[in-house]
Amino acid sequence: MDLRIASTAGFCFGVKRAVEIARKTRHNRDGPVYTLGPLIHNDRVTGELAREGITIVNELSEIKVPGTVIIRSHGVAPEIITEAERKGLVVVDATCPFVRKVQQTARELAEKNIPVIIVGDPEHPEVKGIVGWTGKQGVVVRDAGQAAKLDKYDEVGVVAQTTQRQDNLEAVVNVLKGTGCRVQVFNTICLATSERQKEALELSKSVDLMLVIGGRNSANTAKLTQICNSAQVPVYQVESAGEVKFAWLKDIEKIGITAGASTPGWIIEEVCCRMMDFEEMKSNEETVTEEQVE
Ligand code: F3S
Repeated sequence: MDLRIASTAGFCFGVKRAVEIARKTRHNRDGPVYTLGPLIHNDRVTGELAREGITIVNELSEIKVPGTVIIRSHGVAPEIITEAERKGLVVVDATCPFVRKVQQTARELAEKNIPVIIVGDPEHPEVKGIVGWTGKQGVVVRDAGQAAKLDKYDEVGVVAQTTQRQDNLEAVVNVLKGTGCRVQVFNTICLATSERQKEALELSKSVDLMLVIGGRNSANTAKLTQICNSAQVPVYQVESAGEVKFAWLKDIEKIGITAGASTPGWIIEEVCCRMMDFEEMKSNEETVTEEQVE
């Protein structure tokens, strides 16, 4: 069996950093430690963090006992931080530095009274946070179609949600430029996602089967599975090693493995170990068959 693991599989820099900050905070601080929303989209990891004493709350209003609240890598609007501090909570900010850069750019544009166009998903927490940094003046557009329906501006500043596709940002910018307005573009896209997707596609073209590891509620894992499916090889998405079935691996030689941004290295290792167990079972079966033939 030839196991090929994508070098970009698993935690991105921002998620890894947020998990480390959460653990360090739990270790260093007395009293309750909360995260505002799940730190990552992986139930096994959040379950583990819960056992270590890190509690998820979806709203600050759920917090009844004062303690420390961790802001996850998506970041939040500044008024959330103010509200937490007003409640007497200690705020530990684990916003990814790349997201922080988008927030700062958006704030600076808004301070100069330049309308801010944010290319992204208006429902995504990262985008809601960025809007907050513009004093709620930022306008979110998903794509060129929405950009075409905007009021006419003389000048705009454009930023993007970090996980946006480059071609989508370019399409929005082209529409805005087509209206004759002055457009300042800040390419705030983080390459971690696109590099992981690119590698997953290349890998799936060179193997007999692809395994995608990640939480079922993780949008970036679902996207990886979709991308691998386009390479016309069998693709299986699993959350854990226990879900991998021996039957999938029959007559399979080359197996590619990738994982979403919320999958820790230890889950990837568990899956690899299970594959090695299957390999051993397969060779034992072959030995038995050969002995029977003799
Ligand atoms: Fe940060 Fe990029 Fe991950 S913005 S949270 S390193 S996908």
